[in-house]
Amino acid sequence: MCSRNIKISVVLFLVLIPIFTALPHNHNLSKRSNFFDLECKGIFNKTMFFRLDRICEDCYQLFRETSIHRLCKKDCFDSKWFGECVKVLLTPSEEITNLQHFIKVVNGSPISFNMAPVT
Ligand SMILES: *[C@@H]1O[C@H](CO)[C@@H](O)[C@H](O)[C@H]1NC(C)=O
Ligand SMILES: *[C@@H]1O[C@H](CO)[C@@H](O)[C@H](O)[C@H]1NC(C)=O
Repeated sequence: MCSRNIKISVVLFLVLIPIFTALPHNHNLSKRSNFFDLECKGIFNKTMFFRLDRICEDCYQLFRETSIHRLCKKDCFDSKWFGECVKVLLTPSEEITNLQHFIKVVNGSPISFNMAPVT
């Protein structure tokens, strides 16, 4: 009984290790985008910008899809993709309110996509 459980753990371990090590560790992608590349027209606030950037980064980590990373940052975070990322990352509603404010400041224009908190 007990040794059977150990065997299962070992098998799981052997299966999971290659999966984790196979994940790309290249973070160049995120380093390249900045305020000007994204054509942001608002005010550059590092704190705000990096918080928004973080959403796209986490979203990319979740899906491992380069196009998501790009679409999320499209139009200086004012894309429906950013809203989708916020949703899938299960962002708390008070944080969503912050993010909406950040986009307004950084983007410089009213946000056009629907990022209403899920209640
Ligand atoms: C990632 O960054 C390193 C160091 O800045 C660079 O040498 C390498 O070519 C980059 N890789 C890609 C895929 O851009
Ligand atoms: C940037 O935003 C943060 C969070 O809203 C705020 O505390 C900080 O004072 C701002 N910094 C500048 C330079 O505007």
